Amino acid sequence: MNRILISPSILASDFSKLGEEAVKCEAAGADMLHIDVMDGHFVPNITLGPPVIRSLRPRTKLPFDVHLMISDPIRCVGAFADAGADMITFHTEATNDPGACIDAILQKGCKAGLALKPATPAEAALPYLDKLSMVLVMTVEPGFGGQRFMADMLPKIRAVRRACDAVDPDMYIQVDGGITPETLPAAHTAGADVFVAGSYVFRAEDTSRAIRRLRGEDA
Ligand code: DX5
Ligand code: ZN
Repeated sequence: MNRILISPSILASDFSKLGEEAVKCEAAGADMLHIDVMDGHFVPNITLGPPVIRSLRPRTKLPFDVHLMISDPIRCVGAFADAGADMITFHTEATNDPGACIDAILQKGCKAGLALKPATPAEAALPYLDKLSMVLVMTVEPGFGGQRFMADMLPKIRAVRRACDAVDPDMYIQVDGGITPETLPAAHTAGADVFVAGSYVFRAEDTSRAIRRLRGEDA
């Protein structure tokens, strides 16, 4: 799969003007908007919840790619779907019944994604591929932006891509953490096609150019 889709992570944006940040990403050519939800339990950090997503929803047409880093995610699927999520990704490590959580997401009319922490093997996603739209291979430990890309996740990206190609070649494989124009190409070659970038996009002076550079379209 040759596509490169860019999902800027608003975790790195200015939370006092989230609406403007979302509009900026859309104007700059982003493909979706990555919204990191942290509960202070599954990960140490706390970010935002459904009311913030609901108020952001009318500001942009970008699909909302909601990354739940919360324990027992099935409890909150309905609230995030009702708030305007298009795709809901949860961590397999956060639940003892990933299949039920996927079903709850699909019942709400959203696409489902399954996220793997760095220590979780590709095999953890395989039983669910037929219902998923996306597998998220974390390339940092979840919890904080601004960390370094873990190149040792590349074999896992390749393994997930191989498995997905056998089931659904159109499956998204997302990578999240430390993505820059320098780290993206190796992840892309390994089979990833949706790239979350927080610090790189929001620290850039020119957001459009940052997104073009991620796509390899600008030097
Ligand atoms: C980390 C989050 C990421 C993070 C990426 O737990 O899931 O989405 O915001 O940020 P950067 O691009 O700064 O690594
Ligand atoms: Zn994320």
